[in-house]
Amino acid sequence: YVKGADNIEPQARLDDLKIIQEIVNKCGVKTRIVSAPEVEVEDLGDLGKHHDVSPRPPAPAELLKPRPPVVTVMGHVDHGKTTLLDSLRGAAVAAGEAGGITQHIGAFTVKLSNGEQVTFLDTPGHAAFSAMRARGAHVTDIIVLVVAAEDGVMAQTREVIQLALNENVPIIVAINKIDKPEADIDKTKRDLMQMGLVLEDQGGDIQAIPISALKGTNLELLTEAVSTQATIMGLKADPAGLIEGVVVESKTDPHRGKLSTAIVTRGTLRKGAVLVSGLAHAKVRGLFDHNGKPMTQAPPGTPVEILGWRELPLAGDVILEVETEKKAHSVLRWREHEAKHHKAEEAVDEIRKKEEEHL
Ligand code: GTP
Ligand code: MG
Repeated sequence: YVKGADNIEPQARLDDLKIIQEIVNKCGVKTRIVSAPEVEVEDLGDLGKHHDVSPRPPAPAELLKPRPPVVTVMGHVDHGKTTLLDSLRGAAVAAGEAGGITQHIGAFTVKLSNGEQVTFLDTPGHAAFSAMRARGAHVTDIIVLVVAAEDGVMAQTREVIQLALNENVPIIVAINKIDKPEADIDKTKRDLMQMGLVLEDQGGDIQAIPISALKGTNLELLTEAVSTQATIMGLKADPAGLIEGVVVESKTDPHRGKLSTAIVTRGTLRKGAVLVSGLAHAKVRGLFDHNGKPMTQAPPGTPVEILGWRELPLAGDVILEVETEKKAHSVLRWREHEAKHHKAEEAVDEIRKKEEEHL
């Protein structure tokens, strides 16, 4: 494969390739010249890479302000994640879900008794949703791993531990359902140790707190553990300037149009902001909290429902604010162009792979 060959005149390219082929052949390496499909690339005039946007470089330390931790509750199916979050926010979502299985990522903020705010993300526990869960971990500062004491460590528990270790996200374990007669806290702890988690009572630094999400037992201990961990991490963000965020979920509401739930990671989101995310853009028409109450602004660490998307953004994609709609349009045009180009490159890769098999 000859790099840069596409900048040469077609005939010259073939001649050059033949010369190269001859040289390579002399080294005893077999070669073949194949042609890749003609790739039609739109001429974008002066529109270039500089029209794209990317996250800004980190802000200087003196501009950073404390922000709430983003905590994702993860664990095996039915181990009690949604019930735990319900108890924490005093609502009853789990009872209303189809079959009690969470099919989306919910996000909300709770105020702890000490006045601190914590943002929680609920994730589905079913194996089919692991991709979504992996995305959930991207915005996560802390993982609360829910393990039912009657079952101990199960397939998706292991998956979460692996994910947390790979992504270097601290874990706090909630050993749940301790109100049940079958609950075996010691066995659950042994299971966790076997997975390589060194718990606090074994001299490690991972807290494992026995709770009952249903009865509300020890929830205070759990939230204390979360806020202690958050304090250790000293989470901060710059609340000024163009916003940055991550899409947590998105959907089309029959009455309100295209919506996304997002976590702001930098800047303070306000109505009227122009956003781009992947190949989608928005002029923000409304901001809502998890109860559907209008918000005037969303600072870093806050989950917010955003109204005003022209296209639906994808969960896990980064959101960036741009100065004007005109800028948003050129960013999207450039990104669409790049996406097309990328597709064409993939087609070439495909041929390359087939050829390699042939050789
Ligand atoms: P998925 O979202 O499907 O992964 O499940 P989940 O982890 O959110 O579990 P969910 O909260 O829906 O709870 C599953 C079942 O366990 C429900 O019937 C809950 O009532 C029950 N449950 C949850 N926590 C407790 C607990 O502390 N004690 C008892 N006895 N039951 C619990
Ligand atoms: Mg659930």
